[in-house]
Amino acid sequence: MKIFIDTANLEEIKEAESWGILDGVTTNPTLLSREDGNFRDNLRKICEAVNGPVSGEVVALEADGMVKEARELAKIHDNMVIKIPMTTEGLKAIKKLTAEGIKTNTTLVFSPLQALMAAKAGTTFVSPFVGRMDDIQSPGMEMVEKIVKIFDNYDFDTEVLVASIRNPLHIIQAGMMGADICTIPHKVIKKLVSHPKTDEGIERFLADWKKVEK
Ligand code: E4P
Repeated sequence: MKIFIDTANLEEIKEAESWGILDGVTTNPTLLSREDGNFRDNLRKICEAVNGPVSGEVVALEADGMVKEARELAKIHDNMVIKIPMTTEGLKAIKKLTAEGIKTNTTLVFSPLQALMAAKAGTTFVSPFVGRMDDIQSPGMEMVEKIVKIFDNYDFDTEVLVASIRNPLHIIQAGMMGADICTIPHKVIKKLVSHPKTDEGIERFLADWKKVEK
């Protein structure tokens, strides 16, 4: 499974990168709005910090506008992937950008059929938002399971990028289902590493080692 970090904060990205577990980054307008400075410069710095895809999102709603913005974002760095919202205008933009060799991440996906449409249009990644589905009492991971199955049945190249992750259980389930990628907030990535029994074990070994060193 590939692990992306879902943030636009360079310090969080550099920290996760230093742990050797990072395969890419996803940002969105909300995440970029939380950072100081020019968003293009911030995206460039993120691309330079990570050896993998970095998603930046268009805000236009018409296909032509999306394509124009996407071409500009793609110029920032070779690692840039363009997030396009899941609409019919988005599908038109995905078709065009794919033909131009620009990678896309179809965002705000909330059903298996939306994922299928995006894959048919040629998108590189689809992002089902599991946490936001859970918020409306509709199990987000059930949607992911269906998407993975449909893509496997027809050998789509589109990768399933599980998004809107809120807790470690989402990642275990994604792994069991064979989803390609999880994009995870920094605070959740930290939870994947720690375990109270590990801390307790280290404490005990250190205490016992003091007796050996006497
Ligand atoms: C995905 O690419 C999005 O940036 C993100 O996962 C949205 O998550 P949220 O529902 O926590 O805002």
